[in-house]
Amino acid sequence: KKANMAIDPSFVVGKIDPRIYGSFIEHLGRAVYGGVYEPDHASATKEGFRQDVLDLVKELNVPIVRYPGGNMVSGYNWEDGVGPLKNRPKKLELAWRVLEPNYVGTNEFATWAKQANAEVMMAVNLGTRGVDAARNLLEYCNHPEGSYYSDLRISHGYKQPHAIKTWCLGNEMDGPWQIGHKTAEEYGRLANETAKAMRLVDPSIELVACGSSNVDMPTFPEWEATTLAHTYEEVDYISLHQYYGNPTDDSASYLAKTLEMDRFIETVIATCDYIKAKKRSKKTMYLSFDEWNVWYHSREADSKMEPWSVAPPQLEDVYNFEDALLVGSMLMSFLKRADRVKMACLAQLVNVIAPIMTENGGPAWRQTIFYPYMHVSVFGRGVSLQPVVKTPYYDTKAYTDVPQLDTAVVYNEESEQLTIFGLNRHLEDDLTVTIDIRGFESYQIKEHIVLENNDVKAVNTKDDDRVKPHTNGNAKVDQGKVTAHFSSASWHVIRLE
Ligand code: AHR
Repeated sequence: KKANMAIDPSFVVGKIDPRIYGSFIEHLGRAVYGGVYEPDHASATKEGFRQDVLDLVKELNVPIVRYPGGNMVSGYNWEDGVGPLKNRPKKLELAWRVLEPNYVGTNEFATWAKQANAEVMMAVNLGTRGVDAARNLLEYCNHPEGSYYSDLRISHGYKQPHAIKTWCLGNEMDGPWQIGHKTAEEYGRLANETAKAMRLVDPSIELVACGSSNVDMPTFPEWEATTLAHTYEEVDYISLHQYYGNPTDDSASYLAKTLEMDRFIETVIATCDYIKAKKRSKKTMYLSFDEWNVWYHSREADSKMEPWSVAPPQLEDVYNFEDALLVGSMLMSFLKRADRVKMACLAQLVNVIAPIMTENGGPAWRQTIFYPYMHVSVFGRGVSLQPVVKTPYYDTKAYTDVPQLDTAVVYNEESEQLTIFGLNRHLEDDLTVTIDIRGFESYQIKEHIVLENNDVKAVNTKDDDRVKPHTNGNAKVDQGKVTAHFSSASWHVIRLE
């Protein structure tokens, strides 16, 4: 089969906010304890962080990490996680039904993020708490000194404020499973009042209101409309969350799931713009896709877990090759709407539905999904270009008119590099791709990275990296045209300069 593309430097979708390559660490399973923090580990830093994990996080070039939840934040008292370790309470953590020892809290996480070269995206508890706890936490984190909470932070050994810019107003408050679940009216009012108070403490912050927990929520998209009707002038972003899985082993349909994701993004944009019109507002609302990933492999094991242990293995999905392909496709969905999707967090980062796995006391390794995430995070910086694409289409059990070639293009104006990301999502048919790079005539191939495997179910383990990229792709340029072979079910990064 054949596909054609045309790329022109003037077809700009928008500037890419690097924060679309964010991730997420929740106090859940072994994400924190045994993941980022393990004081007895051979690689532990003086603060108790695993250096091997930090090194892998840096390889991914993660610009922002959401913390501390997730569902967990809706029952979290931030005060439990600050001050002398010996005074920190062990609490029942109700979202995941574990014991939370609070060895890591706000200050430790801010220190970890700094070492990982990442910003913190902090979530406040709007489940069991509200305006007061949120404004106090912000004062604790960001106020320089001379007030009760800023001086408390200083007394805890953190003279410099953490200067956390991005704050989430709760988590998945539309979900009946959420502790302190609310109706859209209740949440909209509370989020707006919390936003107002937080802005009085620190007007420089950016705020994210909770959108729907996934596209299938019965209240979607009315939830967004009502929430934004209350909060439009006080918040900067509305959140989107979505996880996919392949429980029926229909890989053809699975690899087409991003068609749904694209529609989800378009519907949220339309809803934002509807409220903008109703309010006669000049402000544009942006999207924070702050939870996204594949999540289904571990669900059965988790349903059998005994409650109230400390940091048990939970949500430890072992990812296969087809999951990596879908993750690449999801990342391209953000690039396609880089004008409106300004933040996104791969949920999560270590051990819990994560690109990085660890063994307690043992090694850390890269899951299959590590690679497309790294490729797009490292090379997808600059402006997103809109390619004109002609591709074969096909039908699957669940979808019609699935484009065989999925692609996104990034031009980095500073380094003058052009990067073409591409997925041949067909399970049997190879594709010859021809790309007209008008406007980039003198460009030559720098590298053609390929992730391919003849077993879509292949996984990586601590001893065996079965799924990893190679750089033997055959892309070549001739008279302003790139040609490349994309074998069936394969992920590509073609870099030109
Ligand atoms: O990332 C795992 C969980 O998924 C988060 O805690 C929650 O927000 C979502 O339902």
